[in-house]
Amino acid sequence: MSPALAVLGVSILGTWGLASIGMIAAGIIMLFFPGDPTTSSDNTLGGILFLVLGLTSMGLMQVVVSPLLGLDAPVPFRAKDNKAHAKLTRWAKAGLVRDYTDGVPKEMRLRAQRVLVTRRGDDIYAMNALCSHARLPMAGLPGSPIKAMAIQDGCVTCPFHGARFEVSSGKAVRQPFTSQWNNDHPLLGGIQSKLWNLIQFIPMPYQAFPVPKFARPSMNAEDMQTYPVKVEDGEILVGLPR
Ligand code: FES
Repeated sequence: MSPALAVLGVSILGTWGLASIGMIAAGIIMLFFPGDPTTSSDNTLGGILFLVLGLTSMGLMQVVVSPLLGLDAPVPFRAKDNKAHAKLTRWAKAGLVRDYTDGVPKEMRLRAQRVLVTRRGDDIYAMNALCSHARLPMAGLPGSPIKAMAIQDGCVTCPFHGARFEVSSGKAVRQPFTSQWNNDHPLLGGIQSKLWNLIQFIPMPYQAFPVPKFARPSMNAEDMQTYPVKVEDGEILVGLPR
């Protein structure tokens, strides 16, 4: 990316972020510091409007910014939406078998889709690269201490909250935030599980940032979408939706 484009992007996002914060602040001030009732008019409607606009704008910004940071918007995946392999017939090249480290999942962008490819001996597997728990990348974040975890007992483990999936079928065999995970990972497990619980169980009217039900954080991971794989002349091909 050119420096000029990067500066432009940061400026636009900065302005957008500040405008959202401004609207939220205006809403809070109008609602909670309405001034002298004898001299000022009722600000309740305006305050609510600013608050809703500010929060919506902030949410939209997250949807736009997340992909730029390599993250994805935290909208849950549903196992019922997983497609049968017979329908995944658009073959995309995923590199040479010999370039994959045995047992360590690697994320590939295949036709704009994020796919986690794992080699186990001569067998190759592919599944969605984003965890069905919170859509975070199963291969971790490049340049951070959160990295892909080697497969264990035929399963891939999400390095964020410890959900585990069968590499061959995508079946969720362990949910996030098990007590062992939380003990071993105080930041990603112990503290985050408490926050997750807090957001989930606060009734809507009392939430500081109301989140629509479809986008609410869930404690559950669902079965992952897997993709058919074939190898031709040492090259891996992954079947994607048409
Ligand atoms: S994002 Fe994978 S377990 Fe939470």
